[in-house]
Amino acid sequence: MKRHPVLIPLSHEHRQALFAAQIIKYGISRYKGAPTTTQEKLAYIQSFHQEQLGTHFQFEEEVLFPLVRGRDDIIDRLLTELAEEHALIIAHMNTLDQGDDCEQKLDRLGHALEAHIRKEERQFFERLQAVLGDEGLMKLKPHVESYQVMDRMCRTELSRTAPSETPTPN
Ligand SMILES: [Fe+2]
Ligand SMILES: [Fe+2]
Repeated sequence: MKRHPVLIPLSHEHRQALFAAQIIKYGISRYKGAPTTTQEKLAYIQSFHQEQLGTHFQFEEEVLFPLVRGRDDIIDRLLTELAEEHALIIAHMNTLDQGDDCEQKLDRLGHALEAHIRKEERQFFERLQAVLGDEGLMKLKPHVESYQVMDRMCRTELSRTAPSETPTPN
């Protein structure tokens, strides 16, 4: 199903998250100039989490999920699963630099992130569009738009502080 315009900004972020997942999985990335060493991958995913993924998850859990809960059994089941996956992905993220199997943890995180995003795109968003229809989705529009404004403000703030806080790969 073609993505509804209201959900496109979120689908755009999903594409970026899929890109991040590809980069941190095992093997050399086919993307030119992408991080390749474990340290580079670690720094990259930590910065992606701080700059985008964290706020994306937060918007979904605090705004989007409550807005669409209670209308459809399949959506409600997916909401529970997706929130659990967020918690698991964050837990993976927080233990990346602990212990000595970072490469393996990055690979596991990459697979978990990819599976999560694909479920949101292929199951959750598809079902949302089918159940809510254009009228229901348009009610989400102001929420998605204010998220985009907040997100941009956070990124501007982060880019001001980033140079001294972002770990440098070696
Ligand atoms: Fe998402
Ligand atoms: Fe999500």
